[in-house]
Amino acid sequence: MSSVRYCLALFVVCQGVLAISAEYDFAGEYAKITQLQSSQEFAFEKRDDVPAGYVASPYYPTPKGGWVSSWSAAYAKAEKVVGNMTLSEKVNMTTGTGFLMGPCVGNTGSAPRFGIPNLCLQDSALGIAATDNITAFPAGITTGATFSKSLMYARGDALSQEARGKGVNIQLGPTIGPIGRQPRGGRNWEGFGADPSLQGFGGSETIKGMQANGVIATVKHWVANEQEQYRMDIVPHGTMKALSANIDDRTLHELYAWPFMDAIKVGVGAVMTSYNDVNGSAASQNSKLINGILKDEFGFQGLVMSDWLSHIGGVSAALSGLDMSMPGDGAIPFLGLSYWASDLSKSILNGTVPLERLNDMATRIVATWFQFGQDKDYPLPNFSANTADREGPCYPAALISPTCAVNQYVNVQGDHASIARQVSREAITLLKNDNKTLPLSSSATLKVFGSDAQTNPDGPNACNQRNCNKGVLGMGWGSGTANYPYMDAPIDAIKRRASAVTYYSSDSFPGGLMATAGDIAIVFISSDSGENQHTVEGNNGDRSASGLYAWHNGDALVKSAAAKYATVIVVVHTVGPILVEEWADLPSVKSIVFAHLPGQEAGNSLTDILFGDYSPSGHLPYSIPKKENDYPASVSLKGFQFFQVQDTFSEGLYIDYRYLNKHSIAPRYAFGTGLSYTTFSYSALILTSNIPLSALPPARAPKGSTPIYTSAIPAAAEVAWPSNFPRIWRYLYPYIDNPSAITATGKYNYPAGYSTTPKPDPPSGGDEGGNPALWDIMFTLSVTVINTGSVAGKEVVMVFLQHPSDSPYDTPVIQLRNFEKTETLVPGGNQVLSIGVTRRDLSVWDTVQQNWVIPVSATQPFLFWIGNGSGNLTVACESLSGVCEGGRVKPVA
Ligand SMILES: *[C@@H]1O[C@H](CO)[C@@H](O)[C@H](O)[C@H]1NC(C)=O
Ligand SMILES: *[C@@H]1O[C@H](CO)[C@@H](O)[C@H](O)[C@H]1NC(C)=O
Ligand SMILES: *[C@@H]1O[C@H](CO)[C@@H](O)[C@H](O)[C@H]1NC(C)=O
Ligand SMILES: *[C@@H]1O[C@H](CO)[C@@H](O)[C@H](O)[C@H]1NC(C)=O
Ligand SMILES: *[C@@H]1O[C@H](CO)[C@@H](O)[C@H](O)[C@H]1NC(C)=O
Ligand SMILES: *[C@@H]1O[C@H](CO)[C@@H](O)[C@H](O)[C@H]1NC(C)=O
Ligand SMILES: *[C@@H]1O[C@H](CO)[C@@H](O)[C@H](O)[C@H]1NC(C)=O
Ligand SMILES: *[C@@H]1O[C@H](CO)[C@@H](O)[C@H](O)[C@H]1NC(C)=O
Ligand SMILES: *[C@@H]1O[C@H](CO)[C@@H](O)[C@H](O)[C@H]1NC(C)=O
Repeated sequence: MSSVRYCLALFVVCQGVLAISAEYDFAGEYAKITQLQSSQEFAFEKRDDVPAGYVASPYYPTPKGGWVSSWSAAYAKAEKVVGNMTLSEKVNMTTGTGFLMGPCVGNTGSAPRFGIPNLCLQDSALGIAATDNITAFPAGITTGATFSKSLMYARGDALSQEARGKGVNIQLGPTIGPIGRQPRGGRNWEGFGADPSLQGFGGSETIKGMQANGVIATVKHWVANEQEQYRMDIVPHGTMKALSANIDDRTLHELYAWPFMDAIKVGVGAVMTSYNDVNGSAASQNSKLINGILKDEFGFQGLVMSDWLSHIGGVSAALSGLDMSMPGDGAIPFLGLSYWASDLSKSILNGTVPLERLNDMATRIVATWFQFGQDKDYPLPNFSANTADREGPCYPAALISPTCAVNQYVNVQGDHASIARQVSREAITLLKNDNKTLPLSSSATLKVFGSDAQTNPDGPNACNQRNCNKGVLGMGWGSGTANYPYMDAPIDAIKRRASAVTYYSSDSFPGGLMATAGDIAIVFISSDSGENQHTVEGNNGDRSASGLYAWHNGDALVKSAAAKYATVIVVVHTVGPILVEEWADLPSVKSIVFAHLPGQEAGNSLTDILFGDYSPSGHLPYSIPKKENDYPASVSLKGFQFFQVQDTFSEGLYIDYRYLNKHSIAPRYAFGTGLSYTTFSYSALILTSNIPLSALPPARAPKGSTPIYTSAIPAAAEVAWPSNFPRIWRYLYPYIDNPSAITATGKYNYPAGYSTTPKPDPPSGGDEGGNPALWDIMFTLSVTVINTGSVAGKEVVMVFLQHPSDSPYDTPVIQLRNFEKTETLVPGGNQVLSIGVTRRDLSVWDTVQQNWVIPVSATQPFLFWIGNGSGNLTVACESLSGVCEGGRVKPVA
């Protein structure tokens, strides 16, 4: 009960937790939960209703880390440390200290004897969450729309300079799943777009940038967290289990796991599991996903953490490959209970979890810390995610806590506003521009409509985790947000640029307006979504109430303006696709501008484009369909089902443009669409074959060696409470009251398929990211892009792959595989772009061979389509002849 009272007292910080559990009687369940948690594990529960054919196959034991050469120096250092660690020190590495038990959203235990502090884990993927003096960068979806690898990198680099400056060891981003399978999915905007290659480049460039500053990046959420509602177990477990994403093996590899391979290939330090189940087994303890795919096939060397409060079993999660429990608590925070901490100590002492598994968990965490040089001159946290005050409780959830100096208000912004502005600007996607209405003259008479043009009148950070859609929509809501240091609102920027501006901030069209010929209306509309702990205007995270329509009657506002004004420009701030059919073809709607989610630089980045200082160069990172049911029912939101919501990915590989193309459904705006103020042409297109094709990659090398430790169960005294220990109530410790009394009570009921004998090396593995040959550049396309228009601009060249027509594998007709963006080209200017296509790009995942296979054909070529959007493909190169030519029939509707 006390925790409930405590939560009510600390309502702001606790409301997320209460919301998570809003569907049951929190207070009434307290006793039951405490009892359950201290007495048993919710491991290996019976699974309900997973459709026939979907199985959570067991994969044991966890492959140990350390066999990859690029990590060997860090593992050698970690081996010396972990080899000298006591049981309590090892357990400390693995378990968070508890929700609100330290300055950051997650804090690990420490090992002072080795100079390892409590590591600070902090959201988010677009800025350092819940603190001050930072930059609120544009969201992932905005970054994806730039189609600029260098900006993806630059944003990651700037983000981690800020993380490091605040003392964050492990930054919780980038998000590369959800991918956007469900157009209404709440968190699609945190990622880079509805395509695995775009998501893969977005994620891996961000990671490279982040980790260049010694910050450990965390890719999330592994895997298939595509819908927000029902994503979590509702405790007590078994009453309502988290949604089960049921996915076949090929779809998992080619769509959802694909960007994670890219992340691992570039050496990401941490992976966060998702809340949902996959094939009926929770992602935080799914042995096939963590042990099998992530750590064996993909050769992941870093640490795997749970998403917050998704840890649901002690022994089960350890055996399945989880390395770090975050924030450490059991099913309910603030009780001082954990599935790990002292319970992990017990499961080692009673012989149930093999010591070598704990050694590997600790080694992976310590090696990751060494890998990024955090043993040298890394700042401690100098901020608190729990309060904005200078001083506050060091451990807010402890009730009685010592006071700490928590916030130093370190300004970490540097010159990052300019990077944020550039990303937002280069993301702006022009979808319609009749009669060259844009760019505007600064002497135009502008009538601006819609509340989305102005700063939230209550202040840009008035809503906790941005859980309202009021004022300009710069980011969605939830843990993937950050506080705005300021909001540069569009209306302010427009007023700075133009002299004759009138603003109508209502979302209802004002009555009695008289339009004068020549007036130009700019209408701002938005569509929001976020994380499931908040419901905003009836949307429970996903766009469950609004659907794909603009919020606040945006369609009516546009239509009213279009009825009055001859020239209307529509600016859209959105988390994803919206339906524009009610007005896109209206003759007075001359221009449509998708500005995505621009973060703090919403104003200047937009006026940079509206007034023609820069040509637009953003492209849609998803398709905009004409109607929502152009997509199959399987990608709509799943409603309530008894026991467990089953979300079966029966559409397989066919999401977004892959589905529309398969069914010859013309979208309103195709994936990749984006206009410019100038025009471009391509010349000197050359395809070079670097390596002859073979169906299978060359055989992998066997794994290298991993650290070797003694496997004898340590002395129980290693987890006894140190004498005179200043124990903090409810804090999570590795210690046990009477450790020598711990004995095995009977035989542990291990899961089916459990084994301690390592599996043979999977043929598709061999290095970080899988078999290194998967990353061989098999073909290179070179193209000269020429600016044939009259103003400067940047062009994006995308490569869409079409498989040989005699391929035995049912494969989407075209798939994006790579892209490059030019520098700014002046009129007449040109640049040669060189774009590689890897073995993996050409391959399908063969479920029988369990390997990546190129459908090589003696007679039918691969086609490499080149263009600035999936709807504009008329130029292609053929793999067999090497011939490149234009004037071809478009491969898709
Ligand atoms: C899910 O079930 C499908 C169908 O049996 C199987 O192909 C796939 O490997 C399973 N995935 C996982 C992660 O267990
Ligand atoms: C303990 O640390 C020392 C000093 O770094 C090292 O030489 C030794 O190998 C370590 N012991 C083990 C068992 O790893
Ligand atoms: C475990 O971590 C806590 C801080 O979270 C620290 O007080 C304690 O000393 C650590 N234990 C050991 C054995 O290092
Ligand atoms: C830094 O944060 C503090 C507290 O929020 C604020 O008073 C101060 O103005 C900020 N400084 C800057 C430069 O933004
Ligand atoms: C060992 O301890 C763990 C953690 O308390 C417990 O889940 C497990 O059932 C125990 N095993 C045996 C055989 O008693
Ligand atoms: C806070 O950050 C500043 C600047 O990055 C750093 O110098 C300082 O050491 C940090 N504070 C602490 C307590 O480490
Ligand atoms: C473009 O302007 C011309 C001349 O003002 C007009 O006739 C034509 O209808 C306009 N086209 C569009 C698509 O608005
Ligand atoms: C897109 O490609 C077409 C040719 O297919 C070209 O006319 C046009 O200028 C390009 N547009 C942009 C924005 O690159
Ligand atoms: C192709 O590019 C041209 C020129 O930029 C543009 O007008 C057209 O809308 C584009 N088509 C698609 C389907 O993207």
